[in-house]
Amino acid sequence: MEVGFITGGAGAIGRASARALVRDGWRVVLADIDGDELHRVAVDLGEQAVAGIFVLDVTDFDGVHSAVREAAKANGGLQGLVTAAGGGRGIAGASKVPFIDTAPESWDRMIEVHLNGVYYACHAVLPILYGGGGAIVNIASGAGLRGGPPHLRQLHASVYSAAKAGVIALTQSIAQEAGAKGVRANCIAPGRTESRWKSWQEMERMQREEETRYPGSGRASPLGRFGRASDMGEAVAFLMSERAGYITGACLDVTGGIRLH
Ligand SMILES: NC(=O)c1ccc[n+]([C@@H]2O[C@H](COP(=O)([O-])OP(=O)(O)OC[C@H]3O[C@@H](n4cnc5c(N)ncnc54)[C@H](O)[C@@H]3O)[C@@H](O)[C@H]2O)c1
Repeated sequence: MEVGFITGGAGAIGRASARALVRDGWRVVLADIDGDELHRVAVDLGEQAVAGIFVLDVTDFDGVHSAVREAAKANGGLQGLVTAAGGGRGIAGASKVPFIDTAPESWDRMIEVHLNGVYYACHAVLPILYGGGGAIVNIASGAGLRGGPPHLRQLHASVYSAAKAGVIALTQSIAQEAGAKGVRANCIAPGRTESRWKSWQEMERMQREEETRYPGSGRASPLGRFGRASDMGEAVAFLMSERAGYITGACLDVTGGIRLH
């Protein structure tokens, strides 16, 4: 049975990815900074599905490496990685200021969690995947596909956009190196999606507020709804599977077509 390591495993997209992977026959190792929520997610997934739990900060290079080593040792290797740590209260939100008001500390924290965190996890897992092949899916963002529009939605998200663009380029670069060793690396770019701190109602409130501030700003998806965490989980499970066996270096737009505006 294949085993995948998931950072941000207590988060909305991390747990939805875990659910979809478990349904597809994977076992999952869950890692997150929030131990209480992590244990709740593990209970929800069930004992058989969970191949390890690690309470860690993805910005801790040594901590990430030692968790990955331990997980691989306990499971006779690893076959996959999903990097879904980040987002959340006070992390992504911290960057929403005009660029010239951006403080170096918030820039650094954003890069640490959203870019270095991905780097550390890939750096730790790749040598293990090289032993037997596997797949990586990094969670980027629509904000990393283009540092601005649609319309004003990404306004004041310069640091977040830069970090996520970095994730996309890093993934492409890893794909170039890892293909010959039987490892694929892809990302997904979610649009506005429900998360632990952002309920469906909260997203509707945000959209109403934006529409009032910037009338006709066209943030609605042609599909007429926001993203569900399960939409992201399905995209991750597809890219992790052999059904995506000829896809590497891709960034799958899972914004519900919002970028068509
Ligand atoms: N929800 C969205 O609208 C959206 C859109 C585009 C991209 N994303 C990206 O998707 C990823 C997952 O976000 P989500 O929507 O599931 O958010 P979420 O807040 O539901 O989950 C994020 C998880 O990451 C964990 N985390 C945060 N910092 C950490 C750290 N330093 N070390 C370890 N764990 C940490 C949190 O505890 C939380 O459980 C993030 O990278 C986010 O930027 C989300």
